[in-house]
Amino acid sequence: MATDGSSDKRHDNHDEVRRTGLNQGLVNYGDAGFSLFLRKAFIKGAGYSDDALNRTIVGIANTGSGYNPCHGNMAQLIEAVKRGVMLEGGLPIEFPTISIAESFSTPTSMYLRNLMSMDTEEMIRAQPMDSVVLIGGCDKTVPAQLMGAASANLPMLELVTGAMLTSGHRGVRVGACTDCRRYWGMYRGQEIDEQEIEEVNAKLVGSVGTCSVMGTASTMACISEALGIALPGSASPPAVTADRMRVAEATGRQAVINARAGVTPDSILTEKAFENALRVLLAIGGSTNGIIHLTAIAGRMGIDIDLAAFDRMSRETPVLVDLKPSGQHYMEDLHRAGGLSTVLRELKPLLHLDAMTVTGRTLGEEIDAVPVFDQQVVHRFDSPLYPAGGIAFVRGNLAPDGAIIKQSAADARLMEHEGRAVVFEDAEDMAARIDDPELDVTAEDVLVLKRIGPVGAPGMPEAGYLPIPRKLARQGVRDMLRISDGRMSGTAAGSIVLHVTPEAALGGPLALVENGDRIRLSVSERRLELLVDDAELARRREGWRPVALTAERGYRKLFLEQITQADQGCDFTFLRPPNIQRRVPK
Ligand code: FES
Repeated sequence: MATDGSSDKRHDNHDEVRRTGLNQGLVNYGDAGFSLFLRKAFIKGAGYSDDALNRTIVGIANTGSGYNPCHGNMAQLIEAVKRGVMLEGGLPIEFPTISIAESFSTPTSMYLRNLMSMDTEEMIRAQPMDSVVLIGGCDKTVPAQLMGAASANLPMLELVTGAMLTSGHRGVRVGACTDCRRYWGMYRGQEIDEQEIEEVNAKLVGSVGTCSVMGTASTMACISEALGIALPGSASPPAVTADRMRVAEATGRQAVINARAGVTPDSILTEKAFENALRVLLAIGGSTNGIIHLTAIAGRMGIDIDLAAFDRMSRETPVLVDLKPSGQHYMEDLHRAGGLSTVLRELKPLLHLDAMTVTGRTLGEEIDAVPVFDQQVVHRFDSPLYPAGGIAFVRGNLAPDGAIIKQSAADARLMEHEGRAVVFEDAEDMAARIDDPELDVTAEDVLVLKRIGPVGAPGMPEAGYLPIPRKLARQGVRDMLRISDGRMSGTAAGSIVLHVTPEAALGGPLALVENGDRIRLSVSERRLELLVDDAELARRREGWRPVALTAERGYRKLFLEQITQADQGCDFTFLRPPNIQRRVPK
């Protein structure tokens, strides 16, 4: 590990001398002295003194955007981080990067995640800083930042924006976005009318901040803390609270300390840290998207996630956190219950307690430092919310490289199920026909949606949460077995098989499914089978023709050429290290 606030890895392919503060990463004019002279002249134009410019520099990634209400507290957070940096004698300098908000990113936020990771990595590399605080929150922003920071390998801390507050509708507590889907389902089933759904729309999001349930944003907040790359206690404080601002201030202070000590991500993001994070993902009933993101982040560190081994881990890890969509509470309740520390304490026998965190103390030391008290949100290890196997990894001739299902948020009746396939060729086909009164479908059928994988859509949209066909919704059907190569929101629930790999657009077996085929899911056996004989599948493959997936230029071209499948985290091929040797969980 470097001791001057830089690292060997960071300077790969860079000519500059290893330096600290403003002296590092000079612009290449062929005269280092002139480059520094020019840099200081310009920044002094902003009123900085030599005393300020000689301090340890902490970069702060500002991902505030008018299009991103999940980051709506950015200005206050930056102010608090800066205060912390200066209390510790450093100089904070904020800089912008891309911001991605779920509901404002077409075609999908996932399509842009890798672009944000590249922006983050290159801005860390390009600008002089001794450490960096990355402020993210909305689903893809934290993964993008951790991917970029892992590759840059400069001392860093993640700081999440925090969850929004809950609100109320006609006496019922509501929060985005499990309740968004519940009310929309009621509207589709004609249980509530146009006026009420409009009323609900104004109540679902109680404040700025990230979704208030255990969706992807909350999952990634907990994962950041479990990885040790965010401060202990930092995952759960809601966005608009004093606790959140104190976490921001403490993060700024720690960033200065870690810059001076040269604590780089490779000393934190170890195999043990990723195993801890996978445990936590399971115990919190986390978003299925968390698996893809953890795979991508670990990949940047040269570590593969073995999904079959993850499934074995899942079988011995109980779901403890009673938050929607698996349970009933919200993030602010988890915070009042002690936050992630309460979960970690219950999980202690299954964790690597010697894993290091950004505080310089081990995870075990941090857990032991938090007081214990009675609470109702985190179950005891011996009386879990869901016994084990919250997320199951299934395989079979329909998904040779695997697929996943979040059992803890599904209808137990459908975890062993055989039914007739009702097939939609792509998202447009589904939108055109799903509500057709003539659609030949029953509640026992299996809805299949093709071509929403990483390449197919492109960007692997969260369309895996297929709506219940309207005519069945009106009969009171609330869940069906649904299968796709796409993702679903972490806030969603249902009997939904996701991430079928390889995807249909690349000719995976999902592409060969036809209306009326029988499909069998057995979660107990971890099998997903298309009950069609091999000769017939071979005949269908002969006739299968790929839809051309090309783009003339730009990011779309890069994306289509470089995107990997879900089992490699949907990262770009050229961003992953060439020889990944290590695998977790062991
Ligand atoms: Fe941003 Fe849910 S939409 S966290």
